[in-house]
Amino acid sequence: MKNKTKNSAWSSYWSEGCITSLPNLFPENYGGDILRFWNEEFSELKDRSRILDICTGNGAIAFIARDNVNRRHIHCDIHAIDIANIQPHEPDSDGSHINEIKFHAGVAVETTPFADKYFDLVVGQFALEYCNLEDGTKELSRIVREDGSVVLMMHHDESRTVRSTHELISVADIFLDDPTIFYRLRKYVEQYSRQKSIDAPKVVRMRQQLIANFDKANKLMRRFPNSRFLRVTLDNIKQFAERVHLEPGVQSADIREFENTVKHHLIRAKDQRDAALNAEKISEIGALFTRNGFKSVVYEPFYLDKDLFAWTFKARRSNGM
Ligand SMILES: C[S@@+](CC[C@H](N)C(=O)[O-])C[C@H]1O[C@@H](n2cnc3c(N)ncnc32)[C@H](O)[C@@H]1O
Repeated sequence: MKNKTKNSAWSSYWSEGCITSLPNLFPENYGGDILRFWNEEFSELKDRSRILDICTGNGAIAFIARDNVNRRHIHCDIHAIDIANIQPHEPDSDGSHINEIKFHAGVAVETTPFADKYFDLVVGQFALEYCNLEDGTKELSRIVREDGSVVLMMHHDESRTVRSTHELISVADIFLDDPTIFYRLRKYVEQYSRQKSIDAPKVVRMRQQLIANFDKANKLMRRFPNSRFLRVTLDNIKQFAERVHLEPGVQSADIREFENTVKHHLIRAKDQRDAALNAEKISEIGALFTRNGFKSVVYEPFYLDKDLFAWTFKARRSNGM
């Protein structure tokens, strides 16, 4: 998948205002044991520390860091980057404004604008695994000061969140492969609004092509009867097709907007699946950090209520490399 496609899928997702990338589980920001994990890290920060949240999205982890140091009335320099076109809004804060986060949109982990050895702590939730690992690790090694730390929470390929994306992706092709069901629907709507007759030969032809796509979709429904995503998306498409006759005002622009939402959802799911790490891959990342001047590399599975959720990963920058 092209980087440009992924970036625009994430940009459009963050513009909807979600605070985390798992809005069903964490609509208001990460809580429970994840919040405790991050607060333990941030409680170590001293006055004047410099912190960077990579792949920040709408700033979930940066806001947790900011609230932590605000509560302790210390001043820190907090930055947050994402390659997507982010414009985070302030979530409900504790009211104190001692520290403001500096957000940097369109900044890749592999090529940050920061000075050498600038940060005491770099953090990321579902972050580095989305980047080019070699170049990203090299860049972290450049911008973290000696004895500074990198702390990450990364996708585990056996976690429930990653497993649940697999079914979604199994149905993706019908919405992503050309000519998509959306394309057929738009062509039908366009022809109908031109000809104004349901029996016009061109309209009939477009309707037949659309019905052929519906047949494919129905077969998919039989394979994945529990896929809510598939059912809801197809219901919406059918409603669009029916409305054409009742309200000729149904515009292909409306269909295109719905199509983009569905496509972006699937692109993000694929991105998440590709980012997930098994035991072998996380150990390779550990070795990569060691080669790039980090020591004390520790990683382990992280559970939420006995459910595997992610990997935690910590590394400290060695002196003198
Ligand atoms: C799963 S989201 C995580 C967002 C946030 N940390 C959270 O937990 O809610 C992954 C983010 O990584 C960003 N990303 C992907 N590749 C990147 C790169 N090379 N440099 C910077 N950000 C990147 C995406 O734009 C996306 O916003």
